Amino acid sequence: IKTLTPVNQGPFGSELSLTLQVQKHLEPFRLSLEKLQDVSARLRKDMIRGLGKHSHHRASVKMLPTFVRATPDGTEKGDFLALDLGGTNFRVLHVRVLEEEQRVLKMDSQICAIPQDIMLGTGEKLFDHIAACLAEFLDSQKLRGQTLPLGFTFSFPCEQKEIDKSILIRWTKGFNCSGVEGEDVVNLLKEAIHRRGDYDISSVAMVNDTVGTMMSCGYRDQSCEIGMIIGTGTNACYMEEMKNVKRVEGEDGRMCINTEWGGFGDDGCLKDVLTEFDEEVDKTSINPGVHTFEKMISGMYLGEIVRLVLLKLTEEKLLFRGCPSEALLTPGSFETRFISEIEEPDSGLENAKKILTKLDLDWDLVDACVARLVCDTVSSRSARLCAAALATIVNRIRINRGLDHLKTTVGVDGTVYRKHPNFSDELQAAVRLLAPKCDVTFLISEDGSGKGAAMVTAVAQRVWACWASPDDLFHCRVTL
Ligand code: BGC
Repeated sequence: IKTLTPVNQGPFGSELSLTLQVQKHLEPFRLSLEKLQDVSARLRKDMIRGLGKHSHHRASVKMLPTFVRATPDGTEKGDFLALDLGGTNFRVLHVRVLEEEQRVLKMDSQICAIPQDIMLGTGEKLFDHIAACLAEFLDSQKLRGQTLPLGFTFSFPCEQKEIDKSILIRWTKGFNCSGVEGEDVVNLLKEAIHRRGDYDISSVAMVNDTVGTMMSCGYRDQSCEIGMIIGTGTNACYMEEMKNVKRVEGEDGRMCINTEWGGFGDDGCLKDVLTEFDEEVDKTSINPGVHTFEKMISGMYLGEIVRLVLLKLTEEKLLFRGCPSEALLTPGSFETRFISEIEEPDSGLENAKKILTKLDLDWDLVDACVARLVCDTVSSRSARLCAAALATIVNRIRINRGLDHLKTTVGVDGTVYRKHPNFSDELQAAVRLLAPKCDVTFLISEDGSGKGAAMVTAVAQRVWACWASPDDLFHCRVTL
């Protein structure tokens, strides 16, 4: 679809000239291999800054210690509750880990909507809502009265002091509840449960979704030591050598680091890569100036980037005879899922026509082809930028271990990675080019935010059980 199907000469001059003019607007999205290598080198520097004892305060890539030092060893067992906040929906789950069969079973789960007014309201309201959903679930499962350990997948950047103490650094992905940034999320949850006073929970393990993803894949494949999400937001975690995690005491073994790569570029280091459309998306977002990298890549923003490009091409009279519709002029009207539908190999062009009609646009065949080209260009850039970031991590792990060649597995989740027809292929192809000495296997996670969170809690329980106090988890040396 990179070349337009020849059609009769239209009102805008020759087909060739239209193609050239459209391509000119799309050029800033096309990142060469050299550029991607350069982006990767910048991220490498930022990761080192994030790990440093004195430099991490000003680092835009936060490199947050997770206090997860072990992946599953197959001896974990028990019943757990899991909460999952930060993706498309809020979920409550009951999960059972079976030691004998080395299996994680999802016993049951419930999805609770988080209405927009709660996403943007007070923190107290948000946690009361979460506690109410949990109460409803415990009743429906007849679990009230049992105080089960809880894994809380909270997919926002948190400074973790211990596995059960997690301070929110900032909201992302459309959440902006007051009074939560700078606070311990575990406390806020416990306070909300105590306000109700009708049930209680035992220990809480805080988990980023990337960590849950790595852990749920780690149960199936012991060489999984990276977790990556490309969904509403984007991020990755990986097992780093303790000796490089300067902010945490101890030299031995490894610790999982939540990179929070979504913040890459917040110090302006990606200025030359940003397009005018990225700048506009940032300006009109609820958190301007932050999570720059995420805004170029993730599902929350890709549709809006495409809409802005289509609008620009319309203003330039290269699309829809120069007439935008009300819908095209409305922010958020071009949903990210449209991109996947339009890029479907067989039905894509037909889908494009349906979507353009739904957006009230007066389109012809060339318009539909151009819209397809725009979607392809924007999603390709996203896949290639993700590849550059992932290559930075795998190259780092290889060098950390002094290996000529690294074989490793990445646990992956997220709607963009799962649903887009060629995103995963493009990402993997670019990783092969950018990390030629690494052999990377991609494993789609089976519910990392649910089962993975239970796994983290189960591993923490196992490790807690063999040491005197939770603080010893910190010193416990369990290697991969
Ligand atoms: C958050 C990360 C999360 C990612 C994927 C980002 O906005 O900052 O903590 O892992 O989204 O959900």
